[in-house]
Amino acid sequence: MIIISIAYCMFGVIFVTGQNACSGGIAINSERDASRISGCQRYSGDVTVSQVNVEKLDFGDLYEIYGNFIVSNNFNLKSVLLNGLTKVSGSMILKNNTQLIGIAIPKLTSVTKLSVTNNPNLNYLNADSITSADIVEISQTSIQELRSLMFKKCKSLEISGNMNLKSIELFNLVEASQYLSIMDNNRQSKLSLPVLVTINGKMTFKNLASISAPSLQKVVESMNLIENTAQEIEFPVLQNTRNNIFIISNKNLESIKFTKLRDIGSGLIIQNNPKLTTIAKDSFPELQSIGDKILAVGAFNSVEFPKLKNVDKAITFQSSGKLDCSELRTQFEFMDDNRWICGINSTKDIVGNNNNDSEKTNSTKVINNANSKTQDFIDLYYKNLSRKPQNVLKQYADDARISWNGNGMQKTNLETQILSKLGGIRFEVMSHDCHAINLHDISNGMVVVVNGYLHSGNLSKQPFSQVLILVNNPSKKNEFYIQDDCFRYV
Ligand SMILES: *[C@@H]1O[C@H](CO)[C@@H](O)[C@H](O)[C@H]1NC(C)=O
Ligand SMILES: *[C@@H]1O[C@H](CO)[C@@H](O)[C@H](O)[C@H]1NC(C)=O
Ligand SMILES: *[C@@H]1O[C@H](CO)[C@@H](O)[C@H](O)[C@H]1NC(C)=O
Ligand SMILES: *[C@@H]1O[C@H](CO)[C@@H](O)[C@H](O)[C@H]1NC(C)=O
Ligand SMILES: *[C@@H]1O[C@H](CO)[C@@H](O)[C@H](O)[C@H]1NC(C)=O
Ligand SMILES: *[C@@H]1O[C@H](CO)[C@@H](O)[C@H](O)[C@H]1NC(C)=O
Repeated sequence: MIIISIAYCMFGVIFVTGQNACSGGIAINSERDASRISGCQRYSGDVTVSQVNVEKLDFGDLYEIYGNFIVSNNFNLKSVLLNGLTKVSGSMILKNNTQLIGIAIPKLTSVTKLSVTNNPNLNYLNADSITSADIVEISQTSIQELRSLMFKKCKSLEISGNMNLKSIELFNLVEASQYLSIMDNNRQSKLSLPVLVTINGKMTFKNLASISAPSLQKVVESMNLIENTAQEIEFPVLQNTRNNIFIISNKNLESIKFTKLRDIGSGLIIQNNPKLTTIAKDSFPELQSIGDKILAVGAFNSVEFPKLKNVDKAITFQSSGKLDCSELRTQFEFMDDNRWICGINSTKDIVGNNNNDSEKTNSTKVINNANSKTQDFIDLYYKNLSRKPQNVLKQYADDARISWNGNGMQKTNLETQILSKLGGIRFEVMSHDCHAINLHDISNGMVVVVNGYLHSGNLSKQPFSQVLILVNNPSKKNEFYIQDDCFRYV
């Protein structure tokens, strides 16, 4: 009896020792620690590797971790082998390991969160077998290609700030139930998402040289297409988005195609894409409804939305191209006048020839008409400022609002405070923009924006800008006076 009892006790002791080695949480400090828990095969509790002084850790026989696996702040660590690992029930975090070059987790199929961040020398990640992951984040590594993420679904995916990453392919990803952000990787990086159908949150594609998402049907929150270098952006089967679409600062973008898009839940904002000169018939061929607004600023020559029937709030087009606003207006008859703005910027040198009637549309005619009328005025105004500053005084309305370099004043002070001090200063006009306050009519006045240089004696030239609001002189047709003057040295 006694012997049996002792044997039982001993067995009990061994069993308890086993529990201690393979559960409860462990901080790895050496290769020996690593091989010891590796022998457990299954570990319950968190495994952390932090600030260890070894170069290599091999967890070859560790198959499952019920807990988190955290490798962080290890300056000397170069490689971590996890050749047997199939499952991490919690998070797998590799963070701030300065010299870490590679990680192999070839058999890992399931992890709740995979976060690989700030390992600046990491250029090898073998994670080919992950089929289940909720949150995946890969940022600030030296990885050059990412083709090994094989999961079909995730909650969120962020791939950012990997300066060498030129190719991102997610062959199996069908759905992101929260957000998808691919941004600020190598400027030549190409993104391919061949089977992605749904993003149930926000999508951000930034700094990409090409984007391929041929199956994407739905983006629930906003779509951000920002600072990409792609020439063409195409979403051939996207049907709707419940939020905004932003297409901003894509410097090479020439063509956009949202071939099946029917509804935009909120706004369509297209801005600062210098080569996007047309919103073509095939850009938004099926788009019927926009829940908020269209705001399009750029060098547009033509704009077409063939099926658009509803924009809830407002439409604004501001073009520095040859857009014909009055022709464009006829496409949007469903909009009231007070929800419609279309304007043209024209930037012409003061001595430039703006009088080529054959290329003018109705609204640019108004602008150019204004330009030719203001041209003489501006010419004289600056000539006078250079030679006899006091002469410009009579061009100001008696109640003109005047501000020179932030000093507000009335016409009565202009002479003593400014004009009398301008002797010897020459004004050179480089460009002026002229804009009728009312699109179709210059009689309500014009905004003139002037950029140029001041030359004064030994001083090298100094840039200035000046905004003048000119109003027709009611008693003398075709004469203007200055209602508002805001001048700044730059
Ligand atoms: C990164 O790890 C190093 C040790 O390798 C540590 O000194 C440093 O504070 C860590 N940086 C951050 C941001 O945690
Ligand atoms: C056109 O004018 C708008 C404001 O009126 C401005 O925001 C935009 O930058 C201008 N575009 C160009 C190309 O000058
Ligand atoms: C064209 O401009 C003139 C003003 O110059 C305006 O009276 C006319 O209504 C405009 N035409 C259209 C179709 O907007
Ligand atoms: C006027 O514009 C048309 C069309 O852009 C162009 O063919 C023509 O050469 C221009 N004429 C002048 C005098 O600049
Ligand atoms: C410039 O000065 C002349 C007088 O020398 C004056 O008739 C003219 O109105 C002035 N023009 C402007 C734009 O200041
Ligand atoms: C420019 O010349 C004036 C006198 O004419 C002198 O007082 C001033 O110091 C000179 N400025 C520079 C930058 O040389």
